[in-house]
Amino acid sequence: MIVADEVLNFPDPVYGAQMQDSAVPGLAAEGRIVITYEEEPVTLAGGETITLRKPHYAVADLGYGSMDPATTLSPRVAPAMIGLGLIEAIHEADILANADPDDRNGDGISGRAALVRDRKSGTVTLGRFGWKAQNPTILQQTADAFATDIGISTPDLDRSHGDCTAAQSACLRLPTGVQARLGPVEAPDPVLGLVTFYSASLAVPARRKASFPETLKGKRLFYEAGCPACHIPKYVTRRDAAHTEVAFQLVWPYSDFLLHDMGEGLADGQEVGLASGREWRTPPLWGIGLTRTVSGHTFLLHDGRARNFTEAILWHGGEAEMARSAFAAMPKDDRNALLTFLESL
Ligand code: HEC
Repeated sequence: MIVADEVLNFPDPVYGAQMQDSAVPGLAAEGRIVITYEEEPVTLAGGETITLRKPHYAVADLGYGSMDPATTLSPRVAPAMIGLGLIEAIHEADILANADPDDRNGDGISGRAALVRDRKSGTVTLGRFGWKAQNPTILQQTADAFATDIGISTPDLDRSHGDCTAAQSACLRLPTGVQARLGPVEAPDPVLGLVTFYSASLAVPARRKASFPETLKGKRLFYEAGCPACHIPKYVTRRDAAHTEVAFQLVWPYSDFLLHDMGEGLADGQEVGLASGREWRTPPLWGIGLTRTVSGHTFLLHDGRARNFTEAILWHGGEAEMARSAFAAMPKDDRNALLTFLESL
């Protein structure tokens, strides 16, 4: 089924795709997430020591018996919602042009396209949204969030009991939000379309201090360290984009939207579609300097283990090992300039 792109992976037969640590009245929560951290010191050029925190995840107080032994846990930080319509308007060919699955150019960086099934058209197409590039469109990402994150059915995904599985009969017995006068799903048209349009339309913030000497120095170092091999700076969106507001624009997402083996340190062992347990999609970096302003925290990477830019870069391994080493070997002033550049995005 995975090979035929019919499913992305196999959820736990009892707990489903997501672990719910709270529940509606009358139901037991699925469990309590227990996170412990192991400290790992890293010494950078000049002698500065940074402590990375390596997370270990477990679930206590399982509400519905044991989990399948093959089930893996992989927490997620909610990704930024900006510029999604512009990303969708990048021509597929412009993303595929950077894929180099067999590393023919020998730069140590491959980059694989995440081909997935588009539920609406039924065709296999390029996935570009989500930490594992598992979703081809904003519509599908939105419908998945409606169904799995909050348990609301839409015309795209008719799952009124959300992530409750056949083994959770107490959940399945509870009423859903379906109302006969509105049709067979809880959020009928035009709700999904409007929320998708809203999500696609959130703008990218203007850069701050973009032409300051320190920022420009950091930009040069970003290039010298090899970061743009994956964090590809710019694209021109397609002229024939469905929405004219996002058509034919020069945009700066700093991503190739491809999958990369990021090494054992970041591996979660979880296959999602074509993405292996070691592969992640390069996240866009636009707006990343405003993470604290928007989200109230500065936790980075798929599970938020990095507390700042420095830690995020030091977690890079696998195909990004060379870029990581280049950063670690920079004098402190240069590292600071690179961080100033990221802060300006
Ligand atoms: C081989 C491809 C590759 C290279 C080279 C690379 N990155 Fe990344 N970067 C990634 C991927 C993939 C992730 C997401 C990993 C994860 O979440 O587990 C990431 C995540 C990040 C993040 C966190 C983004 C977020 O939203 O949480 C930052 C910041 C970042 N990279 C900066 C850099 C910098 C600076 C360099 C150069 C020193 C660099 N990267 C080089 C692929 C790359």
